[in-house]
Amino acid sequence: MFITIEGMDGSGKTTALQRVKNHLEDLNYKVVMTREPGGLPISEKLRELILNKDSQGMEPWTEALLFIAARKEHLEKVIKPYLQKGYIVISDRFMDSTTAYQGGARGLGIDYLNNLQKTILEGFLPDLTLYFELSFEDAEKRLSERHEEKNRLDEEGRKFKESVKAAFEELAKKELKRITVIDASKTPDEVFEDTKKIILEKIELWKKEKH
Ligand code: TYD
Repeated sequence: MFITIEGMDGSGKTTALQRVKNHLEDLNYKVVMTREPGGLPISEKLRELILNKDSQGMEPWTEALLFIAARKEHLEKVIKPYLQKGYIVISDRFMDSTTAYQGGARGLGIDYLNNLQKTILEGFLPDLTLYFELSFEDAEKRLSERHEEKNRLDEEGRKFKESVKAAFEELAKKELKRITVIDASKTPDEVFEDTKKIILEKIELWKKEKH
C-alpha cells in the first residue's frame, strides 16, 4: 500500500507520520518512510540543485520538471521495489506538491500539472494521500520555533504560500476519493490519533479488496 503525505512546511506531517510508522511496526507491518525530493544519489543532487539559494530565479518549468524527474527516479528505484516486497510505503510529499507549488503558486496550472504527472507516472497513483491543513499564521509560527536552515522555497513570501494552500485545497476537492484532509491545527497527539485512524481504516479496506 502506497501512502503519501502533503501540506505546507510547518504542518507537522513528518512528526505525525513517524509516530504512525512506529505504531504500524508494533502491529508487525513492514513500513518504509521516504521523502521527496531526495532519497537517492540522483534525487539528492536534484534536490540540492532545486532548493539551493544559488538557484534563485530558476524558470518555473525548470523547477517543475526537475521535481518530476526526481520523482520518477524515486518511484522506480525506491517506491515500487519496496511495494513489491510487501512494504507499506509512506512518502513525505509526492505528486501533489508539484501540482500545488509549481502548478498553483508558480502558475503553471493545477489541472495541467496534475494530468501531466498522471501521464508521466503512468497512472501510478497513491492509494491514500493525507493533506495536513494548517493556516499560514500557524505554519509560520511553528517554523519560527524550529531554527532550521531555510531553503529557497521556504523563503517565499505569504502570497506564494497562500497560493500553495489554496491549490492543495482545490486539489483535495477534485481528488475526493484519494485525498483526506487532516486538521493539523490540533495538538500533536490528536493529529497522530486522527492520522493513525484513517490509515488503519484504509489498510483494513485494502486487505478486504486485495485478499
Ligand atoms: P523540505 O525541506 O524537504 O520541506 P518539507 O520538510 O516541508 O518537505 O523542502 C522541500 C521544499 O520543496 C518544500 O518547500 C516544498 C517544495 N516542493 C515543491 O515545490 N515541489 C515539489 O514537487 C516538492 C516535492 C517539494
